[in-house]
Amino acid sequence: MPDPDEPRRPDAFATLRGPYPEAVGHSSVKNNNTWSCGLPSGLHPETLCIAFGRPEHEAGNPVNVPLSASSTYHHTSSRDYARDGSDTVAAFESVLGALDHGTAVAFSSGMAAIAAVAVIKTLAGHADLLWLESMSNPLMKVPDVPAVIAAGKAAGATVVVDATFVTPLVQRPLELGADIAMHSITKFIGGHSDLLMGALVAKDPVLAEKIRKRRYFTGSIPGVLEAFLALRGFRSLPVRMQRHQENAMEIAKRLQAHPAVEKVLYPGLPSHTGHKRAAKNQQGFGAMMSFLVRGGEAASAALCNSVHLITNATSLGGCETLMERRAQYPVDAARGTPPNLNTLLSRGLKMKAGDHS
Ligand SMILES: Cc1ncc(COP(=O)(O)O)c(C=O)c1O
Repeated sequence: MPDPDEPRRPDAFATLRGPYPEAVGHSSVKNNNTWSCGLPSGLHPETLCIAFGRPEHEAGNPVNVPLSASSTYHHTSSRDYARDGSDTVAAFESVLGALDHGTAVAFSSGMAAIAAVAVIKTLAGHADLLWLESMSNPLMKVPDVPAVIAAGKAAGATVVVDATFVTPLVQRPLELGADIAMHSITKFIGGHSDLLMGALVAKDPVLAEKIRKRRYFTGSIPGVLEAFLALRGFRSLPVRMQRHQENAMEIAKRLQAHPAVEKVLYPGLPSHTGHKRAAKNQQGFGAMMSFLVRGGEAASAALCNSVHLITNATSLGGCETLMERRAQYPVDAARGTPPNLNTLLSRGLKMKAGDHS
């Protein structure tokens, strides 16, 4: 097993690498080192989603990055072993890094990414860590993200924002001052409920290198199929997020007007406590919502068990609409989640809002 600190490979953890010059020959794909096709990273986010992470525009090159299914590399390459990286993962990271304006490191799940940050003391050189979510789960509380980040920075903390619910199309924490953006790629970015993957995006490339190194030692790099599918998820993310959010707004209004519903928690509604903060700090209101069902726990559970177009299941961000009663989980019940709170986990794409009844 190669030692990543070995002097023979001083650039073993270089950021955003694509195939090295000597690797180009055997992958038959010509590219620069960032999978950006020579395009500037200042493009509109929706354009970045589609244009980045591809082989160079050269005759004979494939349009999509190949599934780089190899656990090891010829020793003439600077990359020796797939636990360190692969072209497919690097291409995915180039899109996410460009979107979030930082250096992205992909992980085998969101939880693996979170575990990597948990050792921030050794990564950043100090112990203080401030962790916040762009929007809380399941009560959809919206903090004033830039203000909380500023307070954390003023206190000397490394600030991490879990932006899973919003995606870089709706909020980019590094632009708002955070040190690290965290994403469960499993959700909206993957977009089809068919993979587990996570990522951290660091503003400081040196911190990103430390994170990448930790990934190497813990073996928490995603597989190339997951990276390939997640990269494909980026291609349709702009249109999916647009539809998710349109449907969410329509459904939130209808639920609010429904006699069986006590209260709707969706930041897009002017009545929501976080509406103004979301409007100020986000480019959209996201697609997550919860609602309180009249009739308590029994009515809430009955609703989950009677839906047809909606699926009673957990997770979010796929093309289908999911719903669950959160207090069914002991951990949610223990922290006071109302027993009649149902969470609609992303408004699916399969139906127009009018198909929900
Ligand atoms: C906001 C948020 N962050 C992190 C995670 C963990 O991600 P994963 O399931 O990909 O490990 C989840 C999973 O539900 C999540 O909803």
